[in-house]
Amino acid sequence: MARIGVLTGGGDCPGLNAVIRAVVRKGLLDGHTLFGYTYGWAGVLNGEGEELTAERTKGILPRGGTILGSSRTNPFKEGGPGVDGVLEGMARQGVDVLVAIGGEDTLGVAARLADAGVPIVGVPKTIDNDLKGTDYTFGFQTAVQIATDAVDRLHTTAESHNRVMILEVMGRHAGFIAAHAGMAGGGDVILVPERPFDIEEVCNHIRRRHANGRTFSIVVVSEGATPREGTLSTTGGGQLDAFGHARLGGIAVMLEREIEERTGYETRMTILGHVQRGGTPTAFDRVLATRFGVAAAEAVNAGHSGVMVAARGGDIVEVPISEALGDPKTLDDKFFADAAVFFG
Ligand code: F6P
Repeated sequence: MARIGVLTGGGDCPGLNAVIRAVVRKGLLDGHTLFGYTYGWAGVLNGEGEELTAERTKGILPRGGTILGSSRTNPFKEGGPGVDGVLEGMARQGVDVLVAIGGEDTLGVAARLADAGVPIVGVPKTIDNDLKGTDYTFGFQTAVQIATDAVDRLHTTAESHNRVMILEVMGRHAGFIAAHAGMAGGGDVILVPERPFDIEEVCNHIRRRHANGRTFSIVVVSEGATPREGTLSTTGGGQLDAFGHARLGGIAVMLEREIEERTGYETRMTILGHVQRGGTPTAFDRVLATRFGVAAAEAVNAGHSGVMVAARGGDIVEVPISEALGDPKTLDDKFFADAAVFFG
């Protein structure tokens, strides 16, 4: 019997509540008690949160967001409380083992804690799907569905007005959302962080389409897409979070201006933003999140630490957390080439 502390860190994501529910239900079944730390590592450091019971997790399976709240607090940031702060927060609630649900940053903290001997199991999360070690993360499929709905809607208004429509989607380091939604929605140009673009090539492509009788074009762009060096000047900068990430968003503004000026075609942009992270998870994500949660509780039962649950083929397995860290997973060339068959 253990007391399991659960936390959700980093950007929220549809399916977090499904994981929490599954960890709690499986944990209770196996005789454990559970405590939910609020606002990620901030709750752990302050020892703050709430008891997680079957009653508390009733009805949360289809709900977006996280009942525990989330933050980008980093216990290891310069001058931060580090391992001692975490151990203190665990002791305050009598917690023996942590289940940390989060992306690269949260899992990076989890790996350091595991190395220091803190019992901890990770559950990978990000709508970007760019974590190594797992085929998929929950939340990704939901984000793709939302982005695809947006492409479909932009199509009809683009056709009506003979416009170029640009849709900016999330994806800091990887273009999974853009490539999947672009393919599913029939996008004419897809721009991703893995492949810096040349604005003139993009414009030529649109010109060719229009010369071939098409009257509109749809461009799907990841927020992290960048122009090929020397092809266009952009302004960098932006606020940094506790893990040193810049706030992205806005490449579509530049594209709207440049495409309209260079081609003469009327152009409009939409930045989808956090709509992609909100609302109810798809059935696929609910199932994946539930299986992850059950597997995390099983890892705790087995006394494992420093591991995260992962999707491999059709199975849910345990892998060392370190597998998810380091360089992000990126879109494979073949997938992009398949999407490119339909450009133009
Ligand atoms: O990592 C997930 C993500 O949604 C990225 O796609 C995006 O760049 C970032 O989080 C946005 O973070 P925030 O909600 O802190 O602005």
